[in-house]
Amino acid sequence: MQSSLRLGVAGLGTVGASVVKLLARHADDLAIRCGRPIVLRAVCARDRTKDRGFSLAHVNWFQDPVKLAMSPDIDVFVELIGGASGAAEASVRAALDAGKHVVTANKALLARHGVELAALAEKRGISLNFEAAVAGGIPIIKTLREALAGNQVSRVYGILNGTCNYILTRMEREKLSFETCLKDAQALGYAETDPTFDIGGFDTAHKLALLTALAFGSQIDIDSIEIDGISRITLADIEAADELGYRIKLLGIAEMGPNGIEQRVHPTMVPKSSAIARIDGVLNAVAVDADYVGELILVGPGAGGNATASSVVSDIADVARGTALTNMMGRPAGNMQPYRRNATERLQSGYYVRLSVYDRPGALAAIVARLAERDISIESIVQRSRAPRADAPGMHARDVPQPVILISYETSERAMSEALDQIRADGHVSEPPQFLRIEQL
Ligand code: NAP
Ligand code: HSE
Repeated sequence: MQSSLRLGVAGLGTVGASVVKLLARHADDLAIRCGRPIVLRAVCARDRTKDRGFSLAHVNWFQDPVKLAMSPDIDVFVELIGGASGAAEASVRAALDAGKHVVTANKALLARHGVELAALAEKRGISLNFEAAVAGGIPIIKTLREALAGNQVSRVYGILNGTCNYILTRMEREKLSFETCLKDAQALGYAETDPTFDIGGFDTAHKLALLTALAFGSQIDIDSIEIDGISRITLADIEAADELGYRIKLLGIAEMGPNGIEQRVHPTMVPKSSAIARIDGVLNAVAVDADYVGELILVGPGAGGNATASSVVSDIADVARGTALTNMMGRPAGNMQPYRRNATERLQSGYYVRLSVYDRPGALAAIVARLAERDISIESIVQRSRAPRADAPGMHARDVPQPVILISYETSERAMSEALDQIRADGHVSEPPQFLRIEQL
């Protein structure tokens, strides 16, 4: 058996602690599979006194992740701190400079600095592995980078954030508030340190940017992604979607067109009969359309300590076996093509619109006319049952807004948002209209 592979793990939170426990639990089997023992030599976190559910008696403690990254006592630096800058960025750069292999789950860092870090690793002939950075326990990085090497990918899309899918699922099933579901997701270790990254769609965008680069061989371009999160989704939308035969999912979609790539992240109404609609809770799904293999869909837990640790350890095992690639994106960093953004008019889709309309004669007709002015045809329109009326003296039925749900035929986002701006300006609605794209996936 070869000499042991020595690890330094920085970050002992949800993911780091699970990695340490997995390595201890499966040490013997991993040594057999990899042909050498994998040994935890050193760790780093902020608070040395915190109980993490395992003993640190036989490992060295570092207070500074940069010092751990440069330690001559480790072969692999495992970065599980998080964040696009600060300690995570400094320590990953230090590790690569010192010639250490790096394993990270940090999509925020790679979405910002991935191409540069890939070039640095390549120059040093070491690996920078990031299976855990996208879709938790789903092995999508290896699938795109290695298993699909013989394919041209035309589209990659999916549910890429466990926290958001967990929130939407529980809101639908249990009629719970957004805030309650988010708190539970945080308690379960699914959410980012700042959950705005999850619910604002930014975490999905970080992951999508990495998938896009792997799928199309382009440079990573997070700034080209249109990002819309789920914070504006209400129980009323989820219930309306359910009644209309849809579910609401936060999707990341990247498509190659004749004029370039389109990347977008937004909450989407998908038919209940579609595969993606049936992905519930913390599960993620990544679908890939490719020329030779056809359509692939990978489903699995997208967040949480154990599922993520599974991916981190698979990257460590590749280093131990000597099979880890030294080009992080499956091609030389210098060969990643400049990102070419699709410059054509945005794609067309159907839309779901929810309006709170004052119950006044002609209001509905005026709304329909505004849509027609922009060539938007309506597939269905439903005026929901009258909301309980306030008893305030002098209050009329016309002052009480009524929920109206519209489904449009295909139109552009620009046409729809211009029409809704106009409807709002006309004064027929009591609050900003809600609208969501419908995708027939
Ligand atoms: P977490 O629970 O907040 O843990 C972060 C760890 O980093 C903590 O142990 C913290 O130390 C340590 N830390 C923070 N700043 C530090 C610094 N300046 N120096 C040294 N240590 C520092 O985060 P997590 O959920 O495990 O996520 C870690 C990474 O994995 C992130 O990049 C995240 O995006 C990614 N990820 C997470 C999941 C998931 O389901 N949670 C899934 C996939 C990927 P203390 O414990 O002492 O405070
Ligand atoms: N916060 C992320 C999520 C962790 O909920 O998907 C996994 O990347």
